[in-house]
Amino acid sequence: MNVRKGIVIGGALLALVGLMSSPRLLFGSDEVRAKELIQQACVQCHRLEGQPDSRFNLRAPDLIWAGSKYQRLWLIRWLTGKEAPLYAKGYRWDLSEGAVKHPVVSEADANAMADYFEKNNKDQRVKVGAFDVSKVSKFDVTFGGMAYKAHACLGCHTIEENGKLIGGPQSAALQNAGQRYNMDWLFRFGQNPQDFTVHNGEFLADATEPQLRAVIGYLAAQGVKDFKFYEPWTSPEFGMASADRGKVIYKEYCSQCHGATGKGDGPAASGLEPKPAIHANIPFEKLPIDYLYNVINHGGAALGKSPNMPYWNLTIGQQGVADVMAYLKATFKGVPDMAAAPGGGEGDACVQARKTAKAPDEFLAKTNPLPASTGTIQAGKTLFLKSAQPVACAMCHGEQGDGKGFMGAALVPQPRNFTCGAMMKDIPDGQLYWIIKNGSPGTGMMSFAGLPDEQVWQLIHYIRSLVK
Ligand code: HEC
Ligand code: HEC
Ligand code: HEC
Ligand code: HEC
Repeated sequence: MNVRKGIVIGGALLALVGLMSSPRLLFGSDEVRAKELIQQACVQCHRLEGQPDSRFNLRAPDLIWAGSKYQRLWLIRWLTGKEAPLYAKGYRWDLSEGAVKHPVVSEADANAMADYFEKNNKDQRVKVGAFDVSKVSKFDVTFGGMAYKAHACLGCHTIEENGKLIGGPQSAALQNAGQRYNMDWLFRFGQNPQDFTVHNGEFLADATEPQLRAVIGYLAAQGVKDFKFYEPWTSPEFGMASADRGKVIYKEYCSQCHGATGKGDGPAASGLEPKPAIHANIPFEKLPIDYLYNVINHGGAALGKSPNMPYWNLTIGQQGVADVMAYLKATFKGVPDMAAAPGGGEGDACVQARKTAKAPDEFLAKTNPLPASTGTIQAGKTLFLKSAQPVACAMCHGEQGDGKGFMGAALVPQPRNFTCGAMMKDIPDGQLYWIIKNGSPGTGMMSFAGLPDEQVWQLIHYIRSLVK
């Protein structure tokens, strides 16, 4: 059986080489030539028409929709032998056939075939423009990456994370998906995979359309260097934002929790932990715009904060978010004497009433695996002051780490004062680690679940270095 297959494949390669060396004038046009080539060198493995079928019955992925599925540059690279295999364990996952070297054609033939597919193998179900890659924001990619993992995609498709391939290599590799797929096709595929593939271990995810869009956005960025993220706050809606309209939105939608004058004392507030932020204490001009946009548009839970802060995108739309942001900036300027307030750190006076939950024992037993070197502390400092996602620690914990960041005054209880030696000496590394990863439920301390372990430990070294 295996021997016979070997002969067939060898035969295909031979036929291909023969065709490539035959004079071009044999064929009437590139299209005819491409058709001949495909008939002679591709169809023994690939189908160009028919209904979705199982990999157990097929010899190679279907090319029925080849005119809609691929980005042209990728297709040319694939056909000219410049791409790594997509199915690490071979296409037939019953392992009846090992990985096979794919036939290679010349650049000119590859182009002719790409033209042929575009003309003859377009998929009418794919709506051109259904997925707009230029509207994929950084948030979408992060959120899509989480959805990708939450919906088991990683179980059967590999991706690259921190320079390493992760995931189960059962089906098509997705680490370079952003270079490979036409995103309109990918979006249509995601709407119902069984329109394309059946009975081979495929999986239908229970994802909403926004989640599907985020996953496609995430895939669109995989393997793309310098992916250009969409920044919603540069959209026309923000250009024509109106604080007056925002005022009305605030009254109708925000004040029920945040209070009519932004003091965090709306009718719903009494039953909420953490309390709605005290907007009156936030200098909104200083808040990073991506963070402010995301927390209003996508809600608290999407950023590791309280799910009681709703996601407003569906209710008030992009214009509403732009307007209410304009209102927040025009109205609330923060607490003027916040920065001037004494920093603490002297004696026991700095100790905060700490009701923070205690980490489980296995966490408390952890010690920092990194050396307290200048490099580690510097890396922690950069994260703390600037680069931690979704937002830098300093915004709440302060540039000095004294708990007096400009957002701090909006939160009850207030952020931890890391300069206070009398208090910090009793908090073990494992406790700090656990809170950074999970947040402190019922407080403004959000979870930074997305930070890699190494960065959390860098932050802990930096926090320790702040003690006065
Ligand atoms: C001997 C069988 C065989 C022949 C002949 C063959 N292919 Fe393939 N092709 C495969 C297999 C198997 C894969 C999956 C590759 C992998 O494991 O990475 C594949 C993958 C592809 C893909 C990517 C499919 C996808 O969407 O995952 C394209 C495009 C493709 N082939 C085009 C062609 C064209 C065009 C020809 C003719 C010049 C051709 N192939 C000839 C076996 C074959
Ligand atoms: C249980 C295994 C499994 C899981 C989980 C799974 N897939 Fe798949 N996926 C498959 C199989 C099998 C196919 C069929 C294509 C093939 O391998 O022949 C497929 C096909 C695909 C394709 C088309 C590949 C191509 O180039 O033709 C994409 C894209 C894809 N899946 C994305 C996802 C996403 C996104 C998720 C998570 C929501 C997911 N898959 C979850 C097994 C899985
Ligand atoms: C159902 C109650 C509720 C409503 C309505 C509500 N919020 Fe919130 N909001 C909260 C809660 C609770 C928090 C605190 C979240 C946390 O700290 O985890 C919060 C926090 C915030 C924050 C600060 C985020 C931070 O980093 O601490 C902003 C900004 C905000 N809300 C804006 C708005 C705007 C604008 C509206 C109206 C469009 C609104 N909220 C409506 C409950 C609400
Ligand atoms: C939106 C405001 C906010 C941001 C941003 C924030 N924190 Fe906090 N943090 C708090 C608040 C409020 C507390 C107090 C929580 C409590 O009392 O349980 C806190 C407490 C902590 C604690 C104390 C844990 C304990 O057991 O006492 C640690 C450690 C901590 N934060 C680390 C960080 C790090 C590291 C970052 C950045 C990656 C960060 N925080 C970003 C608000 C914030």
